[in-house]
Amino acid sequence: MSTESLYGGALHRRVTIRDLAAAKVRGEKWAMLTSYEQMTAEIFDEAGIPVLLVGDSAANNFFGEENTIAITVDEMIPLVRAVVRASQRAMVIADLPFGSYEASPEQALATSVRFFKESGAHAVKLEGAQIAAVKTLTSNGIPVMGHVGLTPQSLHQLSGYRVQGRSDGEVILAAAKELEAAGAFAIVLELVTAELAEKITAELTIPTIGIGAGPQCDAQVLVWNDLMGLTKKAPKLAKAYLNLRESMLGATAQWAQDVRTGVFPGPEQTFH
Ligand code: KIV
Repeated sequence: MSTESLYGGALHRRVTIRDLAAAKVRGEKWAMLTSYEQMTAEIFDEAGIPVLLVGDSAANNFFGEENTIAITVDEMIPLVRAVVRASQRAMVIADLPFGSYEASPEQALATSVRFFKESGAHAVKLEGAQIAAVKTLTSNGIPVMGHVGLTPQSLHQLSGYRVQGRSDGEVILAAAKELEAAGAFAIVLELVTAELAEKITAELTIPTIGIGAGPQCDAQVLVWNDLMGLTKKAPKLAKAYLNLRESMLGATAQWAQDVRTGVFPGPEQTFH
């Protein structure tokens, strides 16, 4: 088992699923962030974020959709490829879009093989208790991250974005255990009670990654646009560490004003 910290520049290579397993044994917490293109991938990788998720949340944070349901494999692949190319250290995970893996383990394998070959992803993530699919993927060399609790692709079945695990905690715990037994290397716990997340984290040997799941998970994930204050109306589970939306609005308005008044381009941007 690797004893090197995931942080502090100790690792001069891509983070592996083995490193994440070792971090759980050490009790070292880590952070995962979404990324959908080159610039954020470069910055987050340089900042030492060990895992970058090209989430299907690209649907509503990049493509302008209302939720994650519409995004396709063809739309996701170029985004994952950009994040892989722009990063050097982070493990890059491709989120399997709704409808691209649920029909059969064979469909899940075919989709994941496309992500591996066409984008260079290092692992895939899928939602729900897709046990047979996880077994097939892991036995074919594809690391899988699970995702239970609020699974946004099942938005309509769940009647909206509601906290999970208040009455069905045992079902979610059982699903997490089955995913672990099937070979998943980590599991996202989304919008579940802190008590349930703590119990799942204690009972699993693989890392749990929380989003709206309290402080006891082994890792935390956020959508980068929420973290940076770019989202117009961020969910309650997120915390903005920057007001990028306001900064960009200000810069845009200032530049447009400078163009109108002839201040831009100035002598430094003018060639003779
Ligand atoms: O698509 C996504 O961004 C996700 C995270 C919120 C876990 O699935």
